[in-house]
Amino acid sequence: MASSYHEVYESWKKAPLDFWKEAAKEIDWFSEPDAIFDQNAGSYGRWFPDATCNTCFNCVDRHVKRGRAGQPAIIYDSPITGKQRTITYEELLKEVQALAGALKDQGVSKGDRVIIYMPMVPEAAFAMLACARLGAIHSVVFGGFAAKELATRINDAKPKFIISASCGIEPGRVIAYKPLLDAAMDMSDHKPAGTLILQREQQTCDLIDGRDHDYEKLVEARKASAEEVPCEEVKATDPLYVLYTSGTTGQPKGVVRDNGGHMVALKWSMKGVYNADPGEVFWAASDVGWVVGHSYIVYAPLLHGCTTILFEGKPVGTPDAGTFWRVMSEHGVSTFFTAPTAFRAIKKEDPKGEFVGKYDLSRFRALFLAGERADPDTIHWAEEKLNVPVYDHWWQTETGWTIAGNPVGLGALPVKYGSPTVAMPGYDIQVLDDAGHPVESGKLGNIVVKLPLPPACLPTLWNAEQRFKEAYLMEFPGYYKTADAGFIDDEGYLFIMARTDDIINVAGHRLSTGAMEEIIAEHEDVAECAVIGIADKLKGQMPVGLMILNRGVDKTEAEIEREVVAMVRDKIGPVAAFKTALVVPRLPKTRSGKILRATIQKIADGEEWKMPATIDDPDILDEITEAFKKRGIMS
Ligand code: COA
Ligand code: AMP
Repeated sequence: MASSYHEVYESWKKAPLDFWKEAAKEIDWFSEPDAIFDQNAGSYGRWFPDATCNTCFNCVDRHVKRGRAGQPAIIYDSPITGKQRTITYEELLKEVQALAGALKDQGVSKGDRVIIYMPMVPEAAFAMLACARLGAIHSVVFGGFAAKELATRINDAKPKFIISASCGIEPGRVIAYKPLLDAAMDMSDHKPAGTLILQREQQTCDLIDGRDHDYEKLVEARKASAEEVPCEEVKATDPLYVLYTSGTTGQPKGVVRDNGGHMVALKWSMKGVYNADPGEVFWAASDVGWVVGHSYIVYAPLLHGCTTILFEGKPVGTPDAGTFWRVMSEHGVSTFFTAPTAFRAIKKEDPKGEFVGKYDLSRFRALFLAGERADPDTIHWAEEKLNVPVYDHWWQTETGWTIAGNPVGLGALPVKYGSPTVAMPGYDIQVLDDAGHPVESGKLGNIVVKLPLPPACLPTLWNAEQRFKEAYLMEFPGYYKTADAGFIDDEGYLFIMARTDDIINVAGHRLSTGAMEEIIAEHEDVAECAVIGIADKLKGQMPVGLMILNRGVDKTEAEIEREVVAMVRDKIGPVAAFKTALVVPRLPKTRSGKILRATIQKIADGEEWKMPATIDDPDILDEITEAFKKRGIMS
């Protein structure tokens, strides 16, 4: 099929408001949008400013009303616990309504924040939808974060309530969530009114009288009463959720997502980007703690009337490298979305792809990769073994959906390896030099998006309008700064090459090296430090910390290195994957005192590097090279 992408993109460019007006027809509104965009509202304008709606209604109720009551909405498949559960749209409505009722009984109402700190169980999705039903604003915190990170989010979001579970399960170990939650609530200045705890049989926990409530008890009581909990009418511009993501400091950024624009863009993307049809099975193997989980495990597939898979397991080891193919064949997945790192893990265990042949993948049509650069090796391997097209696409927590991808629903464009393909309608992507001038095609520069951002993208940061402007809008006036660098070729294909800030990407997880440095610097024996992300065959990047010690410390270097590793794990969490700290005699700096992190990284990665003209003392680079060699770090 010839692609209509170019016509569609041009039609959006000519009449952007007509494009989104048309897309908005796919949504059931309480009050239809009259105005599509108000350029005078917010920091760069607001979408659907006069409309009202409810996201839960669009994800659940309307499908029950219109013939999908008996269709599976969520299939929970948990190889790590050996459990499976299919939840139809009708059952989903009952679960969500009962939970919304239980929250309402606890005083949660429109505009209140609710933190969700849960493993990959269906109740995590019920919790998100129940909040949406009440017009409450959820903030999901990934289970791999430590108590301190959770406390930071409690202090920022000021939730009225927290929904959590007794434990999560990682290969070979059960992670008790309740002690982490208790510690976070002790640490935080803001004190939520109460919690709702899902007791899991793998490890239950004690509940504190008067504060902690048993999830099942309250929900069962609500189910028994069968009282309806109507969907609250909210403004399209009201927040649906806040999702924290790494910024350049230890203070994470609370990305705000609205209700109306989010639904419109996500619904469009299901066909336009993924070519998925209602009734089909769509699977994003991510976690509800990440944006991919919000958008493509929960909201978009349900908005579209698909069946979504909620998978609690890993690509390898639960129990083997064939798990993904087993899930796909058992549940008839047609569209699959994951991060390249998952494929690298599978390829390492099963390089010949022998597990693939054991399963019937006849309904599987296309694989989508995002979260980090999809290296051509991984794409080739996946194409060859799975015999389906593989599409890279590029987006961010901030945007909530694809910035650049292959618009398969409009007819796929030829794949160029190493490129996520082209700008989606809604995004005018440009590449600028540091002074803000456009660079010619093929030349590396700062990737920016001309304002306004399309629906679903963040209108602001939670309670931090000024930080939003400073972080994203001020450096290139009139544009949103993506903080990714890259280029556009003469056919309009985009190539993402690197971040322009201190963010690194570890196993598809976005982490701030600045946040790690803040923690390391707290060690009493550390005088100065730098954290860099070095290339890793499996995870893409891995953090490595370099430190200079104070004079006359009592402990050995090895002791301090171990302590620093433990501090980062304790304060950020295991997700930081921080395993290597290294004492060095000196750190290379410019004459104005800036640590030359990029040069250190190039040395570690074995890439070519130039002696920075402004370096204070070139000999230090030899010392660093020596230290890396000694530790077997250099590739
Ligand atoms: N709760 C508690 N701990 C968690 C956790 C969770 N939800 N998720 C991960 N962790 C822990 C891991 O157990 C690991 O701990 P360890 O240091 O004790 O081994 C640590 O955090 C680092 O996790 P990760 O970087 O994910 O490494 P891994 O070795 O456990 O798994 C992959 C590697 C590639 C298999 C895994 O990252 C993966 O499946 N990625 C898929 C892609 C993905 O989900 N991307 C997200 C955005 S799309
Ligand atoms: P997150 O907000 O966690 O989704 O991380 C977003 C960042 O991950 C982007 O700014 C990129 O640096 C990186 N990223 C995500 N998808 C891709 C991709 N397809 N290609 C290259 N980098 C990507």
